[in-house]
Amino acid sequence: MRITDFDIYRDLLKERSGLVLTQDKAYLVESRLGPVAKKWEFASLEAMTGALQAVPDKNLVNDIIEAMTTNETSFFRDIKPFDLFRDTVLPYMLKNRVNQRKIKIWCAAASSGQEPYSLAMVTKEQGSVFSGWDISIKATDISSDILDQARNGVYSQFEVQRGLPITMLMKHFTQDDEKWRLNDDIRKMIQFEYFNLLDSMAALGTFDIIFCRNVLIYFDEETKAQIFEKMSKIIAPDGFLFLGGAETVLGITDTFKPVKEKRGLYVTKDNQFDAEPGTEQAAKSTQAIAQ
Ligand SMILES: C[S@@+](CC[C@H](N)C(=O)[O-])C[C@H]1O[C@@H](n2cnc3c(N)ncnc32)[C@H](O)[C@@H]1O
Repeated sequence: MRITDFDIYRDLLKERSGLVLTQDKAYLVESRLGPVAKKWEFASLEAMTGALQAVPDKNLVNDIIEAMTTNETSFFRDIKPFDLFRDTVLPYMLKNRVNQRKIKIWCAAASSGQEPYSLAMVTKEQGSVFSGWDISIKATDISSDILDQARNGVYSQFEVQRGLPITMLMKHFTQDDEKWRLNDDIRKMIQFEYFNLLDSMAALGTFDIIFCRNVLIYFDEETKAQIFEKMSKIIAPDGFLFLGGAETVLGITDTFKPVKEKRGLYVTKDNQFDAEPGTEQAAKSTQAIAQ
């Protein structure tokens, strides 16, 4: 691949998706975009670059972005955030949203759905504690193909073996030949939608909890800062933000700050939440009531 071709793909991806490609990832461009060039019947990657320099076809650009994004995910990935969600965040919401009886969750880079479905299962497992509450989960991603998979809620044996406790598999899935399909009560808790994190978030509504894990790692600091700034405007003043294990707000923004001793959990800068005493106790009683 010519250096100029690499530059064109790098600039296109940065501008349209935020993804930063360094020269050492040139091999990825070749291996992932080769099949796109073939699908669009270009003789080579160079020929596809030529088409991009004219008036690019929107669908071609989407295919290029989809091919270059990494969709790696699993149920209960890294487990700890889901423990924090169940033991710290949900009990806080149970106490502090008691009048509204409404919790809005946004899963901002949902990939094939394992993350939002994990949240839905945890919420469901709380049983009658949240009965009569309106708990909604919006799950978004830049890739329409991956969102279609997520909406289907059908997973292979391999996928359900990665991180999903067997008790949850038995309770929330139905086996269909070699595949496992999430039951409708869990599927109905989630609305899947296309959303590009580079776009304005104003029309998304507001959220009590945002999961944005393992996507900012691909962006540069300026892009991350802009995303945090936009999120700070649509999250409740006492809301919670979850980031991936290799991601942080530190040194990037002061709109959010980490919660002490709760790795991966962040609150808005003026939020006084600091693992309130009694929260863990509240979590235990939440589970006790649920059983
Ligand atoms: C590595 S996956 C992480 C999935 C899940 N959050 C997790 O932690 O398991 C990253 C996801 O971010 C999506 N993504 C990449 N750039 C995006 C953007 N600009 N806006 C929205 N989603 C994006 C990709 O399509 C991919 O599904």
